[in-house]
Amino acid sequence: MTIHVELGVSSYDIELSRGALSRVGELINLNRKVMVVTDSGVPTEYADTVASFAKEAFKVVIPQGEESKNFDCLQTLLAEMLDAGFTRKDAVVAVGGGVVGDLAGFAASMYMRGVDFYNIPTTLLSQVDSSIGGKTAVDFHGYKNVIGAFYQPKKVIIDPNVLATLDKRQVAAGMAEAIKMSLTSDAEMFAMLENADDIYADIDTVIEKALRIKKYVVECDEKEAGLRKILNFGHTVGHGIETQQAGALYHGECVALGMLPMCSDEVRARLIPVLAKAGLPTELVLDSAALREVMTAVSHDKKSAVGGVDAVLVHAPGSFEIKKLSLPEIEEKTKQSFC
Ligand code: GLY
Repeated sequence: MTIHVELGVSSYDIELSRGALSRVGELINLNRKVMVVTDSGVPTEYADTVASFAKEAFKVVIPQGEESKNFDCLQTLLAEMLDAGFTRKDAVVAVGGGVVGDLAGFAASMYMRGVDFYNIPTTLLSQVDSSIGGKTAVDFHGYKNVIGAFYQPKKVIIDPNVLATLDKRQVAAGMAEAIKMSLTSDAEMFAMLENADDIYADIDTVIEKALRIKKYVVECDEKEAGLRKILNFGHTVGHGIETQQAGALYHGECVALGMLPMCSDEVRARLIPVLAKAGLPTELVLDSAALREVMTAVSHDKKSAVGGVDAVLVHAPGSFEIKKLSLPEIEEKTKQSFC
């Protein structure tokens, strides 16, 4: 199935189909120099498959993990292209999760002021969310994604078969982002997840529904001036928890927890069993020192504008309110959920 993302001159298609990776040579033009960027946690055959179709392939493997989203790795990618004599007509393909996509996309946006970028996300989280919409970035001075660019891919190829090799906890972390989107934007999708005996049984439909939400949001608001903020539902407190947990919880697990303080009581009562069914955390106990660490991280978040944070609240599935909340208001909500 092809889902078109309409963004004027930056429009592109998302190819969503099982086996798409093995047809990558038909789906994108690899008859040129191609830098294939992957990480040490992704099965090597995925990047090798892409490389095998390229006229001239240059594979770069970065260390797995958020720590790779830095200027050193960015420079490694840029140096690889320069040393290999890449021109503006050559291409970059990311094969991996959000870190690989953000880093490779940013390198593609910068090299000679922009070369073609293709994203082949291999985690559920990047398939439903981060591979779509053109956000690319590195972390800097302890701030996540603070240096980056909006740079849309030329195509995104999503092959659900690759999820078979993904650790179950990582799959659950991706499901958190799909649940997030259903809560703000698609009450029927939320009900589908709520009523499913096995929430993972029809993962292709979950991916498709999440992609249609993301496509709509990005088409309405590519640069996050308004509506796109709803994709940050669960992320304000979630990022704070992620920093405080220092790697013990995955991003998607923190988003799952971060949604809880931002829901009405009624929605929270329905959300908790869905998170539990997905294998996501539903509880966290923060003592006063830990709460302080969470709130310090929330206040450092780049989205914490003067006068408060644009928080996304869900009072009923399929709807949202974007409301400026002060840090004490966020702290109070966090306390109610976790202290
Ligand atoms: N992952 C949030 C966004 O794409 O805006």
